[in-house]
Amino acid sequence: MSPQQAVAAVVVLAAGQGTRMRSATPKVLHELGGRSMLGHVLAAAAPLEAGTTLVVVGSGREAVEAHLAAVAPGARPVLQEEQRGSGHAAGVALDAVPDLEGPVLVVNGDAPLLTPATLQALVAAHSAAGSVFTVLTAEVDDPTGLGRIVRGADGAPRAIVEEKDATDEQRAIREVNAGVYVANAGTLRRVLAGLSTDNAQGEQYLTDALAPLVEGGAPVAAVRAEDPVDVLGCNDQRELAARRRTLNDRVLDALMVAGVTVVDPATTWVDVTAAVLPGARLLPGVQLHGTTTVAAGAVVGPDTTMTDCTVGEGATVLRSHATQSEVGPRAVVGPFSYLRPGTRLAAEAKVGAFVETKNAVVGEGSKVPHLSYVGDATIGRGANIGAATVFVNYDGVTKSHTTIGDHVRVGSDTMLVAPVTVGDGAYTAAGSVITQDVPPGAMGVARARQRNVAGWVARRRPGTAAAQAAAAATGAAAEGTAGSRPASDGPDRPAEPGPHHEQ
Ligand code: UD1
Ligand code: CA
Repeated sequence: MSPQQAVAAVVVLAAGQGTRMRSATPKVLHELGGRSMLGHVLAAAAPLEAGTTLVVVGSGREAVEAHLAAVAPGARPVLQEEQRGSGHAAGVALDAVPDLEGPVLVVNGDAPLLTPATLQALVAAHSAAGSVFTVLTAEVDDPTGLGRIVRGADGAPRAIVEEKDATDEQRAIREVNAGVYVANAGTLRRVLAGLSTDNAQGEQYLTDALAPLVEGGAPVAAVRAEDPVDVLGCNDQRELAARRRTLNDRVLDALMVAGVTVVDPATTWVDVTAAVLPGARLLPGVQLHGTTTVAAGAVVGPDTTMTDCTVGEGATVLRSHATQSEVGPRAVVGPFSYLRPGTRLAAEAKVGAFVETKNAVVGEGSKVPHLSYVGDATIGRGANIGAATVFVNYDGVTKSHTTIGDHVRVGSDTMLVAPVTVGDGAYTAAGSVITQDVPPGAMGVARARQRNVAGWVARRRPGTAAAQAAAAATGAAAEGTAGSRPASDGPDRPAEPGPHHEQ
């Protein structure tokens, strides 16, 4: 332990089954606010900069270990083969570091609202009191299910009693055990080795470490958390939802204090890992996940979900869904746009209604306003992609790239069959299937030429509203023609003139 380190080790207890969750997912892997419960506990402990972080795993161990490797590769999993209680779990962790000395923070893995400040205050109190075992407590309105802190007449802690083992008098106590402890490694090792299973659950309770220390005259302490909400555990789905709500309220409060407008906090969800800068506006129904950042002056929502995206200054993202995408300054997205990974919209670009993009760079000021798919594409500056254009990027086996130059005008309903390049300043004719490069400044036309079959409606659809409208529009001559037609639907006559004349 270096002089700066407040604790020698952090031990997170995460081997329990979490039966009350009634879920195949291990309890500590349930997610809230963009992190697992375990991730929140580790994040709260991270500023303590402990040299060693141990996570006791057991139930669902493969999943928990895989998650740990992904989110906290520095933490070391320690296997508790059988879940014999929180005291046993802490003992298993200490056995893994037999030479460890100094204060150790032991924390339940199911306390996702813990903050660095709360943990730091506990560690500071432990060292200030010269205590060998310090427990974090909280005064709560409803202590149901939690361990009670029994204090003596002098106010000093005497014991922690689990609800199932408590007398009626003890159950009336509203000061509860938070499941967070700082203890000197040597002392803890010794007292854990002596724990019995003589209790209602037949487990070795970590909470039973306190009483024998008191009896032996060792200095112990019980420190109340400043905000009792910090220490709330999470044992079932209702508590998970409640903790998620609390966490989100904290995130939104901090954003609003900093100057972000949140029009409807009840329907706005921002992960703890996302960042929204002062001066941004979040409209109702917005969800910002992962590493999403929203710059000043940007407006997101209503009803928009963004994951791992960046939104530039003054940009607008309206009723859209986006993942791993960049929206440049003053760019405009939506309504109803779907930005998939690898989308990069430069400044003042526009992706409009019912447009899907993927692996697509849209240059400065370029527009894809309506009903298009832009996949595996680079679009230059100042280009316009007409409605219902499709970047045909997939031949069923491989994906290919399309390059659109600066100031290109792609006509509506163009199919751009990749790989293909449309040069700077080029046009494509509406309805074209572009399979060959279009040189700069050229007009690419790739569609059948139109022919009009005169009088077709009068001959083939006599008596219809269309025929009447046509007759009215073309005058008496048309009526005369209509009169000479057979009254019944005959077999179609050969078209005239034939299509071969028109190609
Ligand atoms: C525990 C405390 C209780 C406290 C409450 C705060 C005990 C005996 N009781 O109760 O005083 O008020 O937390 O939320 O500790 N675990 C293991 N291995 C095991 C058993 C548990 O790693 O064999 C882990 C769990 O994964 C969990 C933590 O220890 O993270 C606490 O276990 P849990 O069953 O949730 O204890 P509670 O009944 O909530
Ligand atoms: Ca618990």
